[in-house]
Amino acid sequence: MFKQFSDSTTNTIEVVLNGQAIQVTQGISVAAMILAQGLRFNRTTPVSNSKYAPFCMMGVCYDCLMVIDGKPNQRACSIRVKQGMKIDTQQGVGPALRTSVGG
Ligand code: FES
Repeated sequence: MFKQFSDSTTNTIEVVLNGQAIQVTQGISVAAMILAQGLRFNRTTPVSNSKYAPFCMMGVCYDCLMVIDGKPNQRACSIRVKQGMKIDTQQGVGPALRTSVGG
């Protein structure tokens, strides 16, 4: 769906997306990276399990929430990829909150 422009000066780094190591363009947002990777959704909602993908790409809608380096509810559109970053699709409220509320 999305194709990223690149040239010989584009630097890549390695991140781990849903357990798989991939090479991505350095300096882009996590949301841009997942769209370029063809990920169809980045989170599911806690109540209806609906699938959401990034929408506004500017930190307003919160549709891009993901688990980044173990922290749930991170806005993927507002965080740049970093070498070794671990990025996971968020299921519902995410792992840390699920543990803290006993679910
Ligand atoms: S895409 Fe809207 S807050 Fe990230």
